[in-house]
Amino acid sequence: MGLELGFSHVVLKVRDLDTMLEFYTNTLQFDVVDRGPLNLPNRGDLPPLDTEIVFLSQDPNNHHQLAMLPIRDDDAPGPVDHMAFRAGNFTAVRDLARTLQGQDVAIRPVSHGNTWSCYFKDPEGNGVEVYADTPFHVTQPQVRPVDLFLDDDELMAWTEETFSDQNGFQPKKEYEAGRAEELSNRP
Ligand SMILES: [Fe+2]
Repeated sequence: MGLELGFSHVVLKVRDLDTMLEFYTNTLQFDVVDRGPLNLPNRGDLPPLDTEIVFLSQDPNNHHQLAMLPIRDDDAPGPVDHMAFRAGNFTAVRDLARTLQGQDVAIRPVSHGNTWSCYFKDPEGNGVEVYADTPFHVTQPQVRPVDLFLDDDELMAWTEETFSDQNGFQPKKEYEAGRAEELSNRP
């Protein structure tokens, strides 16, 4: 088989490193795994870099999921719509939604049928999605407002009821087995 690319990390240019690190380590519970000076006098067409880089992760199999360079110098929004991080279970998403509300961070709770998602902005306006997988697959796109504060049984029932008449609705395991089959048959 040819390329098998796993997604690894995003590097963010930031304005206020301390504020960003506070949010990402306290609210989103990343660890700073490494930090240090980064001096790259020659980057071809790109301007030279002489700054600090901070690496963050909460995945033992991925040195960094996120890194930050304090070199953002304009107020323009970045070109990335949002970064998404998968939580281990729905309870973690609900707890985070509560934490964010407690910090007066506006949240947008939606389900894509295959996710229960909480969208919000970090302190510098970058879009972030934290989600948990549902046990279902649905043909995308799907975006429905969801009440993340339902209890687990109510949420599962709502999800099945809301998406079961949509194209492609099936157990996620079946969908993933089908995709694995397609990928293994790639030339
Ligand atoms: Fe997303």
